[in-house]
Amino acid sequence: MKIGLLTSGGDCQGLNAALRGVAKTLYGIVPKLELYGIQDGYKGLIEGIWRKMELHEFSGILHEGGTILGTSRQPYKNMRDTDDSSMDKLTKMTNNYKKEGFHALVILGGGGTHKTAHALSQNGVNVVTLPNTIDNDLYGTDRTFGFDSAIFKATGVLDAVHSTAASHGRVFIVELMGNKVGWITLYAGVAGGADVILLPEIPYNVESVLRVIERRNNSGKNFSIIAIAEGALSKEEALVPKKERKYESSTSGSRLLKELQSRLEQDVKLVIPGHYQRGGDPTPTDRVFCSRLGAKAGELILQGKFGHMVALEGTRIVAVPLEKVAGKPKSIPPDN
Ligand code: F6P
Repeated sequence: MKIGLLTSGGDCQGLNAALRGVAKTLYGIVPKLELYGIQDGYKGLIEGIWRKMELHEFSGILHEGGTILGTSRQPYKNMRDTDDSSMDKLTKMTNNYKKEGFHALVILGGGGTHKTAHALSQNGVNVVTLPNTIDNDLYGTDRTFGFDSAIFKATGVLDAVHSTAASHGRVFIVELMGNKVGWITLYAGVAGGADVILLPEIPYNVESVLRVIERRNNSGKNFSIIAIAEGALSKEEALVPKKERKYESSTSGSRLLKELQSRLEQDVKLVIPGHYQRGGDPTPTDRVFCSRLGAKAGELILQGKFGHMVALEGTRIVAVPLEKVAGKPKSIPPDN
C-alpha cells in the first residue's frame, strides 16, 4: 500500500508529531506499506517531487517544531490556473497521484489546504486530512493542532511584557497572529491577563481603550497591556469597504500605536512576536492531540474511509466529511 504524506500552508507546532502518529499506526498493521514524503506540500505533488521514507525517519520527531516534509503556500484560488502544458494544478496533482499508484494521500493543513483537499477528493483522489493551524479557524473541529502551542508562546510574551510595563509605567500593545480571527488573541489575552483584548470579530472603539487606560491610571495601576489581533479593526476602519482598505505598510498594532501616542502623555510601545508564535516545540497537549489525530487518520486509511478530516469533537476524535469543512472559516461566536 503506497501512501503519500504532505504538509501544506503555514506551518505550526505538532506537524511532525502528527506525521509520526500516522506512520507508527500504519507501519504496525499494514503489510508491504510504503510511505512517501511529498516535498513542500502541494508544490511537490504538482511537480512530482517525493521520496520513499523509512520508519526510523518518524522516530525522535515527536517534540520537534516545523515539518520534516517542508511546506509552501499554494493558494486554492490558483489551483485552476493553467501553464504551458495547458493543464491546471489540480489536474497535475490528480495525474501524478494516479501515475505513482498511490492508494491514498494524508494531507495536513489549514483552511486553504482543506479546500484543495476537497477538490482532489472530488477528482477521485483518496484523501484523509488533519486540521492544523495556529489560528484555530478551521470549521468542523473544536480545536486545530498548533493552537495550544501558539497560545502558550503568545501568553509567554504577554507575561514578559507585564513586568517591564509595570517597571516603567508604560502602555504596551502586543499584536498577535490569527489571520482574520481572534482565537489566539482571546485565549492568550485572557491567560496573560491583558487589560484590553481587541479581536477582528468585534471592531473596537479607541475611546473605550483610552477609558480603560485612564481608569487603570486613576486606580494607581500606571501600566496597561493591550492584546490586539493582527486582523483587528477600529470601528472607523471597519466602515471602509474591504477592497478600499489599504494597510500594506502598517499593521493593526502599529495603527493603534500611532493613535494612542497622539492621545496619551504616557509612553506607548508595540511588541509583535510574529512567527515566534508558530515556531519551536509543540506543547504536551498538542503532542498528545497530534498523536491521537495521526492514529485516527491511520485507522481511516485501514477502513478505506476517505474524503474525511479527523477532528476533535468534545473529547473524542472523529471523522468529518470534507464537504462540511472546506471553505468554512470558524470565527469566535459572539456568545463565546
Ligand atoms: O495561518 C497561520 C499564520 O501564521 C497567520 O496567523 C498569519 O496571518 C499567516 O499565517 C502568516 O503567513 P506567512 O507565514 O505566510 O507570512
